[in-house]
Amino acid sequence: MTDLPPGPSGKAIVAGVAGWPVGHSRSPRLHGHWLRRYGIDGIYAPFPIAPEDFEAAVRGLAAAGLAGLNVTVPHKAAACALSDRLDDTAHRLGVANTLIFGPGGEIEGRNTDAFGFAENLADGGIADGGGIAIVLGAGGAARAVVLALQSLGYGPIRLTNRTAARAEAVAASLGPGIELVPWAGRAGALADAALLVNATSLGMAGQPALDLPLDDLPAGATVTDIVYAPLETPLLAAARRRGCRAVDGLGMLLHQGRPGFHAWFGVDPAVDDDLRRAVADDLLAGG
Ligand code: ATR
Repeated sequence: MTDLPPGPSGKAIVAGVAGWPVGHSRSPRLHGHWLRRYGIDGIYAPFPIAPEDFEAAVRGLAAAGLAGLNVTVPHKAAACALSDRLDDTAHRLGVANTLIFGPGGEIEGRNTDAFGFAENLADGGIADGGGIAIVLGAGGAARAVVLALQSLGYGPIRLTNRTAARAEAVAASLGPGIELVPWAGRAGALADAALLVNATSLGMAGQPALDLPLDDLPAGATVTDIVYAPLETPLLAAARRRGCRAVDGLGMLLHQGRPGFHAWFGVDPAVDDDLRRAVADDLLAGG
């Protein structure tokens, strides 16, 4: 007989990630690492669920005794809509990325992206916010970033996006304290900034780099990127050359997973170098 480690028992706690498709999700690797690390009798599985089946599938999984789900594209708004209860962030953003199932099948929706962003900044040495922040982008990620920055005390927040109407919509729902900057004027908006955040997909492997000269950015500013593949985006490399502090985006992905893991499996898991290496190696392998 081979000496295999024991698998999950019949009493294993089961959670997972729902998406369509879901094969690209890093969450099984992330939560699988934590389950092994803490020796938890648990399973974390990918669930490919088509949009038209989402609500029935989630209610069925909740009734079947799953502990909960992470939710990724394209289900985050539907996850918010079907939840019986929402945390403040999910309520404000209208999207949920984490579902906690109660014993009677009731569903609590949370959004942990703003938490993940703030915790990643804290790991990068930026625990206390304050000052002017520039945010590039106006998608779902940018909304979570803006909410996190507001709760950290940044202001004003200068928001710029290629499509101005999307930035206006963010300011309308998350303002006041948000100043809109035309996309063409983004480089000139960097003066006096304490923090610059790329919340667009520019700089991601396979995408164009972000075109943003940093000449006006103070050398004492911090630059962070929500893109984590590659870890060192052209923006972060340019920031380092300028002497700015640069914080990569991997920690946002890792920290956003913590509240769900804690709720389902009872341990607030660590985000440390060991985990960063495991997930970064997986990214390098294209896994
Ligand atoms: P997410 O929910 O992950 O934020 P998204 O809603 O698709 O994803 O948002 C992607 C962001 O990257 C948007 O701000 C988008 O700008 P638009 O709103 O103008 O589409 C930005 N983005 C993507 N490709 C871009 C490009 N080539 N130039 C400028 N911005 C780009």
